[in-house]
Amino acid sequence: MPATYKILQSADHADSFNNRDAFALDVLVGLSSMPKSISSKYFYDQRGSELFRQISLLPEYYLTERELEIIEHHWSTVAAAAGREPFNLVELGAGFSQKSLLFLEHFAKAGLAFRYVPIDISESAMAGLVESLGERFPHLEVNGLVTDYFNGLKWLNRRHRRRNLVLFLGSSIGNFNHTRACFFLRSLWNALNHDDVVLIGFDMKKDIDLLLRAYNDSEGVTREFNLNLLCRINGELGGNFDLSKFRHFGTYNVSSGAMESYLVSQERQMVFIEAIGRSFLFEPWEPLHTEYSYKYLASDIDRLAEETGFEVKQHLYDSRNYFADSVWRVQKVGSGELASRDRSLTAKAG
Ligand code: AVI
Repeated sequence: MPATYKILQSADHADSFNNRDAFALDVLVGLSSMPKSISSKYFYDQRGSELFRQISLLPEYYLTERELEIIEHHWSTVAAAAGREPFNLVELGAGFSQKSLLFLEHFAKAGLAFRYVPIDISESAMAGLVESLGERFPHLEVNGLVTDYFNGLKWLNRRHRRRNLVLFLGSSIGNFNHTRACFFLRSLWNALNHDDVVLIGFDMKKDIDLLLRAYNDSEGVTREFNLNLLCRINGELGGNFDLSKFRHFGTYNVSSGAMESYLVSQERQMVFIEAIGRSFLFEPWEPLHTEYSYKYLASDIDRLAEETGFEVKQHLYDSRNYFADSVWRVQKVGSGELASRDRSLTAKAG
């Protein structure tokens, strides 16, 4: 069975999604704001993605190891949630991660009937993934989709109507604040069918020292990952950031429950960016905010699911309770059911 992928939106779309003009505009807005900020979505050029891959292998960045343990222990619970009929195993993102591999290995060994549908906007990431999966799992049906997540899910619904089991692993949801997380989850709900299943990774609130170590690793990879944002501005937008004058600073905000990453200017300096055609002043010790990584309590996860139309089936934890993969089911009440629910509420009220 050949592993293939299909482009639903042209490479032009992928380019325009992250193109130079949009990047320049976001940098202009971010560096003109007070406090200054640049979205963490710009971390992930080729070098940034490689640095994140290296971070995910660091023991201090416990998230990967903890989530792998959850999958190793609980994959069959996740499989059971998908039911007995053939299903689509959809993955949001096409990183060739150990975590998806572990699911594929267990599901294939258990003889489950499923097709694997990774969805990603980057054609190069998809081509690499599909090639390696074809070699590793020659009998697995792999239908990659090069497009944005929600468009891909809608297309899948029209073409291969089966129950979807959607994986959104890692702690990517944590990079959204509450408003953006709700928007993302509502869009996901909207693109899925009643009874579809979603597995979402959440990093739990924990000892602050562990969090600080995870985002300030001793090898300095996270520092490089953060500074790479300035390299990108220099390379792609003609900036003249002097990286040695900025310091990586990762801190935990106890009020919001987020790890926050900053690049702090160590002196007063002007930075010129050619593509924008202007300079920006950094005062001494002025921060540039680059990332939020929100941490959760089980009650935060429950509230998020409830607010966005999902029913929580189970939180699957690792043995240290550092991380949770939460199993959610899409709840879409048909108009008939709504009417009978209304009748029973009216009867109760009466
Ligand atoms: C991709 N994301 C879930 C990572 C996180 O933990 O927020 C990115 C990262 N930032 C610093 N280290 C890792």
